[in-house]
Amino acid sequence: MSDTLPHYSKEDILDIEKNPFKDDFPLLAADENLHYLDSAATSQRPTCVIDAQEDFYAKTNANPLRGLYQLSIEATQDIENARKKVADFIGSPSEKNIIFTRNTTESLNLVAHTLGDLILHEGDEVVISVMEHHSNLIPWQQITKRKGAKLVYLYPDQEGHISDVEIEKKITNKTKIVSVAHVSNVLGVTLPIEKIAKRAHEVGASSPELLLSTPQTPAQGMGDTCTLDAEGNRTEVKNSTSKKPLPGIKGAVVIVDAAQSIPHTRVNVEELGCDLLAFSVHKIFGPFGVGVLWGKQTLLLAMPPFLTGGEMIDAVTEESAVWAPLPEKFEAGTQDAAGIAASQYALDYVEAVGISNIEEREKALVDYLYEQLSALPYIKIYGPEKADERTGVVAFNVEGIHPHDVASLLDTKGVAIRAGHHCAQPLMQFLGTDSTNRASIAFYNDKADIEALVDGLKYVWGIFHPEDAANASDVCGTSGVTGSGSVESAK
Ligand SMILES: Cc1ncc(COP(=O)(O)O)c(C=O)c1O
Repeated sequence: MSDTLPHYSKEDILDIEKNPFKDDFPLLAADENLHYLDSAATSQRPTCVIDAQEDFYAKTNANPLRGLYQLSIEATQDIENARKKVADFIGSPSEKNIIFTRNTTESLNLVAHTLGDLILHEGDEVVISVMEHHSNLIPWQQITKRKGAKLVYLYPDQEGHISDVEIEKKITNKTKIVSVAHVSNVLGVTLPIEKIAKRAHEVGASSPELLLSTPQTPAQGMGDTCTLDAEGNRTEVKNSTSKKPLPGIKGAVVIVDAAQSIPHTRVNVEELGCDLLAFSVHKIFGPFGVGVLWGKQTLLLAMPPFLTGGEMIDAVTEESAVWAPLPEKFEAGTQDAAGIAASQYALDYVEAVGISNIEEREKALVDYLYEQLSALPYIKIYGPEKADERTGVVAFNVEGIHPHDVASLLDTKGVAIRAGHHCAQPLMQFLGTDSTNRASIAFYNDKADIEALVDGLKYVWGIFHPEDAANASDVCGTSGVTGSGSVESAK
């Protein structure tokens, strides 16, 4: 498989006029008129990932973990290799801390249902930001309502910056959980995770459940962290002799939604200082249907399981069950083995390009995108004014034209962008709009993609403002507004 990994020079990678990548991504290579600017929704996949998934079905297909025969053993090994790869990629001290889920949404639901249910009580507070994707908002809305806890919002300024004062005001000794995005999927701004985590760990409320019901060491906890009684309730933990804080867990628990940072920048769980972290593999050039939840081992041991059933138990009687060790405790049922197996090739691909090269190329792309959009007088851009504070996305509106019309008309020019509320309706309300357009890039984009977007926007503007079309400024040095279209149907 490694022969399909890229070996491009740094010079070629950093030159946004060039694009050595498109040939590695079959969908992009197949249509040179496609300008895919919706990678924040899902990325494209390189050949090595597509081949790996096909290879799994063609050569290794068996249900992992269940069989004692060669194929099943190999399938299991593929999954464990992928787990190790993910662990190394995000700086996890052990692969046991990597739980495979279906996506970020499921990872965050897992945490809200298990940890939230375990430690939240009336009057406790859960802190999120108003910039959260609904995936990191609804689970907390639900669990706080159920438990009589309060959901507290961190508000940024209009550009998306959360101030130190806001962090100090909102994260207090009532805070039990803080769950925030690393990068906003609308504003592209990076949240100050290290500061948030430091504050949460320093002043946040410790949870007695995490002190009392936990085995002393991870090793002791393996396989006997918890049992179910006849009614399915969680009962005493065997070997639970510790009344000390969990090693490495202090104050409020900090969760990071890394869905929009992982494809663009180095994500290291230790440097971020979080306790749990979630992301989706489909946004980092891997298959659909694979998500990751990373957690500190002691915390994962203390958390009850989410889904129960096959694969996640060590022993079952008619009355009770003993959970399997990590990570199986959280991996009930048959997983997308082919997808997980292929995931490691996505990370191999990213490493072959180099995450710092990716950062540099994308910075040049976002700078150019921001500069070109800013030059169009009818475009309102949301988020940071400094392009270098943005990761991957630029959200904008075209004066007087609904984003759905903009996106549909751009589509006729081969430009794919997202339009709508981006699963961030409270943020839309905060920004004073219902919806926006959003162009999002990955390293496989180039200057031509951005120019196609800008030309497309001039075309859209020209359809709604034919009187302006002739005078439209040619900021890219490209063709200006020349397109035709149905004004009536577009409106
Ligand atoms: C910041 C953020 N969190 C969570 C999600 C949800 O990801 P998924 O649909 O893969 O669960 C997204 C998806 O766009 C996102 O941008």
